[in-house]
Amino acid sequence: MKLAVIGTGYVGLVTSSVFADFGNQVFGVDIDADKIKTLKSGKVPLYEPGLSDLLIRNQTSGRLEFTTNYYQAVSEADVVFICVGTPSNAKGEADLQYVFSASQSLAPHLKNGAVVVIKSTVPPGAHLKVKQIIDKVTQVKYFLASVPEFLREGSAIEDTLRPDRVVIGTNNRQAQKLLLDLHRPINGKRILTDIISAQLIKYTANAFLASKISFANEVARLCDAYGADVMQVMKGVGEDKRIGKAFLHPGIGYGGSCFPKDVKAILAFGRQQGVNLSVINGAHLTNQTQVDYVIAKINSYIPNLKAAKVGVLGLAFKGNTDDTRESRALLLIEALLAKGSKIYAYDPMAAEYVQKFYPQLKINYRSSWQDVAKDVEILIIATDWNEFKELSLDELGKVSNLKYIFDGRNILNPDSVKQAGFKYIGVGR
Ligand code: UDX
Repeated sequence: MKLAVIGTGYVGLVTSSVFADFGNQVFGVDIDADKIKTLKSGKVPLYEPGLSDLLIRNQTSGRLEFTTNYYQAVSEADVVFICVGTPSNAKGEADLQYVFSASQSLAPHLKNGAVVVIKSTVPPGAHLKVKQIIDKVTQVKYFLASVPEFLREGSAIEDTLRPDRVVIGTNNRQAQKLLLDLHRPINGKRILTDIISAQLIKYTANAFLASKISFANEVARLCDAYGADVMQVMKGVGEDKRIGKAFLHPGIGYGGSCFPKDVKAILAFGRQQGVNLSVINGAHLTNQTQVDYVIAKINSYIPNLKAAKVGVLGLAFKGNTDDTRESRALLLIEALLAKGSKIYAYDPMAAEYVQKFYPQLKINYRSSWQDVAKDVEILIIATDWNEFKELSLDELGKVSNLKYIFDGRNILNPDSVKQAGFKYIGVGR
């Protein structure tokens, strides 16, 4: 099939390269000419394991091309994917301006029978405005569908190739058949539904996962109060198949480009519908206060944070990505800086970006965890990079005089840390 994929962020690039790899002819489109230039030269403007190889392979074979020209991309496309961002606006709603401007730009070039698939996360009913925009411009017969994306950064390709499910939301049989054909090489259950239900599936899934994390973080606070170990508690709880083990890992809170914005958005459209989503609101509030909770716990060990030299390992919102959007590590650093602490930090991938785009964060950047540890009295693990999970406590003892390790991701073994001569502090343990 011939495809156009509008937007070259995580979702757009993974979608275009995976479908090109299946033998489709794909155009990736973006209004950002610099980004398209970078992509044409075979470089990927973001870090995602495996993406660069996949992209280059399909560009070399001629199945994947990039352009800023909508006519070139859309005029022959059987399927047009909208994969642009839907960031939060000031009221916490999903800002749909990019979805609408993409719709406006693609509309004049649509061919008869094309399917326009909204992959961007949009509130229920947003496709009606998309339809209005397109209908004003074109007379051709086209179909609308919603095929939400569930990929996680860091494992985006694997998640796209082998998802638990593929949700195809459309009210038209012909479009449904075409999308089922297109997704044939992809594993996972098929959920065939209407557009609004598909849109709600995406928000519900993200809100539920975010709630699981906040739930675990609340229980962690309770474990701190009682001196219990939250990891043991969650293990005992997660073995119940009705609950499940995943996404019950406590830490400094959830971040990233999806959970914080999608939770705010579902709360906003719930409010607009007069529906009080108190469980989801609770998850949001817990996440909003988790960094404060963590700071208070650190403060109970180090009363004078003003004079403290603090090492922070990790700046990205989670391991295996260079993405720092809504990163709790950065919020933690901001809060510590406000208290007057001196911050030394290292991240395997994200440091350069933070240095360039967050100049207000007066961080002393270091090029390894060993270099961070040398100067500080407390070391905070803020991102769950594998490198930090495997941190050598022997070496740490040799290179530093630090006293406390605050394991903000609960990834170290507390007994090993204690045996190595450090005071272990975790979240709920
Ligand atoms: C998420 C969803 O998983 C994905 O399905 C959706 O399409 C986009 O949003 P992503 O943002 O890449 O993906 O990251 P994810 O791995 O889900 O983690 C989100 C945040 O939650 C991270 O900050 C992570 O550190 C945190 N987290 C996750 C926890 O604190 N505890 C957990 O148990 C799991």
